[in-house]
Amino acid sequence: MATSRILVLKKHMSSKAASTMIKNVTVIGGGLMGSGIAQVAAQTGHQVVLCEVSDQALQKSRSSIQTSLQRVAKKQFKDKPAEAEKFVNDSLARLNTSLNVEESVKSADLIIEAIVENLEAKHKLFSNLDAVAPSHTIFASNTSSLSIEEIASVTKRQDRFGGLHFFNPVPVMKLLEVVRIPQTSDDTYHRMMAWGAAMGKTTITCKDTPGFVVNRLLVPNLAEAVRMLERGDATARDIDTAMKLGASHPMGPFELADYVGNDTTKFILDGWHKRFPDVELFKPIPLLTKMVEEGKLGIKSGEGFYKYNK
Ligand code: 3HC
Repeated sequence: MATSRILVLKKHMSSKAASTMIKNVTVIGGGLMGSGIAQVAAQTGHQVVLCEVSDQALQKSRSSIQTSLQRVAKKQFKDKPAEAEKFVNDSLARLNTSLNVEESVKSADLIIEAIVENLEAKHKLFSNLDAVAPSHTIFASNTSSLSIEEIASVTKRQDRFGGLHFFNPVPVMKLLEVVRIPQTSDDTYHRMMAWGAAMGKTTITCKDTPGFVVNRLLVPNLAEAVRMLERGDATARDIDTAMKLGASHPMGPFELADYVGNDTTKFILDGWHKRFPDVELFKPIPLLTKMVEEGKLGIKSGEGFYKYNK
């Protein structure tokens, strides 16, 4: 483990508040983010339950987790195939799946919600969880754009509530944003920070502000790139090349927009526009709206700003 992460772990574990370590993690929602979180939790030694609504969804999650674990194993155990295989098998053995929310949270120290970005759906889930989860269980949302305080408002455990925002692809991206709401207790905060370090992530702390740190800077950047393309200032390819070679970004804004999903970017912008109608940066972009309406969502639909082999 990197020295900085050991220091974070020690700092937050030395507090009396962090005396109860998070060992059992339940992830609700097995999409791209939920699967990634469940995978990393399992590969770092946690007992994990991944909860979804259908067998088909669970099968898809399990298959993507297996593929991703093999990629991680190949990297971590380059010339040691037996160790690589053990890493994959041990991680998969710690990963259980469930179709029953109540059952899946029975022993959870931490529940992370990674379901659809819809406040009503999240409220329904968390008020149910509040009634059935053990009293010590910390609740967290991986929302990328909704307010944590608003999500937490339906529960009676706002002191045990926070935001844990991961980045795609979760096994590769090293950052975890830990979001405190005013009600989050020191105990909960320290446990979330220590858990982030135990997950092998570098943690930063952020208030419950729209987009937290990364998306607040990243999404307007993508939006400005789309506006640039719309005005005809440069081609998508040239804007991407410019940002990769001129700013050392690993992906250009259009490659990233296709990777994140144009519907997701539009959803985040629309939500912010609704809340802050005067902010120019959040205003709707006709080109983005048109692409989403035409189903050009990015890699997942086979076409976005670029075309992909499905
Ligand atoms: N699981 C496991 N390993 C993976 C992986 C996955 N899903 N995806 C990539 N990798 C590994 C590969 O195995 C490879 O390992 P290697 O170095 O040993 O070969 C390494 O990562 C690099 O992958 P690739 O060679 O396939 O491709 P790249 O070098 O182009 O890297 C990338 C791919 C890591 C995605 C890189 O382009 C990148 O960092 N892009 C930016 C991603 C980003 O900004 N994410 C944040 C999005 S915003 C967000 O998530 C917030 C949300 O709220 C919207």
